[in-house]
This record gives sequence, C-alpha cells and structure tokens, in this order.
Amino acid sequence: MRLDKFLCKSTELTRIAATQCIELGEVSVNDNVITEARFQVHENNCVVWQGERLVARRSRYIMLHKPVDTLSSNVDGDYPSLFRCIDVDRADDLHIVGRLDADTSGLVLLTDDGRWSFEIIRPEKQCPKTYRVTLRDPISDDVAAKFLVGVQLQNEAQLTAPAELTRVTEKEVLLTITEGKYHQVKRMFAAVGNRVNGLHREQIGSLQLDVELAQWRYLTADEVAKFL
Ligand code: URA
Repeated sequence: MRLDKFLCKSTELTRIAATQCIELGEVSVNDNVITEARFQVHENNCVVWQGERLVARRSRYIMLHKPVDTLSSNVDGDYPSLFRCIDVDRADDLHIVGRLDADTSGLVLLTDDGRWSFEIIRPEKQCPKTYRVTLRDPISDDVAAKFLVGVQLQNEAQLTAPAELTRVTEKEVLLTITEGKYHQVKRMFAAVGNRVNGLHREQIGSLQLDVELAQWRYLTADEVAKFL
C-alpha cells in the first residue's frame, strides 16, 4: 500500500495531512526517511512517525441490506445515502462494491480494501449476481433462452453475457448476471418488451443476503476469502 494510505490507516491523519508529514521528512520506513507519499510499504515494514511504530488498522468488509429510496453514494442527494444505515467509525473510509439503483433493494458490499473490491467488480472475474425481479407483464416462455444467448441493449456494442433466468411466478423471476452494466437488469427486460417494477439483489458470488432490511454485519474471514 502507498505510504500516505498506510499513515491514514494507522493514525488519525487525513490523506492531505499524511502527505504533508511524509514530505516534511517526518516518516521513516525501515530506518530510512521517505519523502514520497506514493512509496510502497508492506505490512511487515517498520514505519515510524513521531517516535512510534505504526500498525495499520484491519480492513473492514460489510454486508448491508439496502432499502429502496437510498442512494449508493457516500453522500445524500435526492434520497439519503445508504451510509445512514451503517453506524461505524470512519464510515467515510468505506466504499461501495457494485452500486444499486435508488429504487433497488438488497445486498450491498462495503469495504475499505480497494484490492478486494477490485477482485469482485473486475469484468474478467464474471462474478455472478442474483436478483429477484418483479415484472409488469407475465414472463414469456422464450425469455430464458434469449437471456442465455444474450440480448442487445441500447448503446452497447456487444450482446449481454449469458444470464440465467428462473421463473418463480408469472411475474416474478430470479436472474443471475455476471456483468455490471448501467441499469443492466432493467435494460435487459426492456430489450424483451417487459418492464421491471421491483428489483432486489439476493446474492453476490456465493454470498447470500442474510440480514434484515437496513441492517448490516461484518463478513467472516471465510466469506472475505471466497472472493479472492
Ligand atoms: N440492474 C439494474 O437495472 N439496477 C440495479 O440496481 C442493479 C442491476
């Protein structure tokens, strides 16, 4: 991790203050004064500031049950930010791993570990996400086959990747997609002449949402490792 980030993760310093301390020559790594904020440090390096060896706080990994009418953003806008559901210190350090629309509910992951979130969202990973979808019109028999082949979304060069659709009732389905295009699920149903009236994310990878509406919990070490 960069030295300025390490300082932020081990002290109360902001990124700007951490950079200043580094540039002023106040920080040493393995007994060498380092004045570049982007200098890379490893966990076992001995980083000293103000005479004390610094230890980075552990990264946090959170599952949240996002309510509708909340924003997947760190700040409030037309609706309150989903961060209002999470009462932890340093909530500002957390970022959202795969946003949901304001009118979508369900599983949202949050972390302060950028490498972990990248492992989940990078396209090559094809991490499956399962949505429970409520439709305006009854689901047609041919839609599952169309989604398996891929459908053409407006303003996209390529067909969507194969997606698995399971019928629950006439107007309710489960859909598993491995991409994360903007409004993807809504646009997929629009592409087959239907409309999404309700959308809820139930699962990411093998991780199933298991907390009540607007509640959150930390992931276990095993759950975190499954995404790596
Ligand atoms: N697809 C959508 O259309 N909206 C979401 O919030 C998530 C997936």
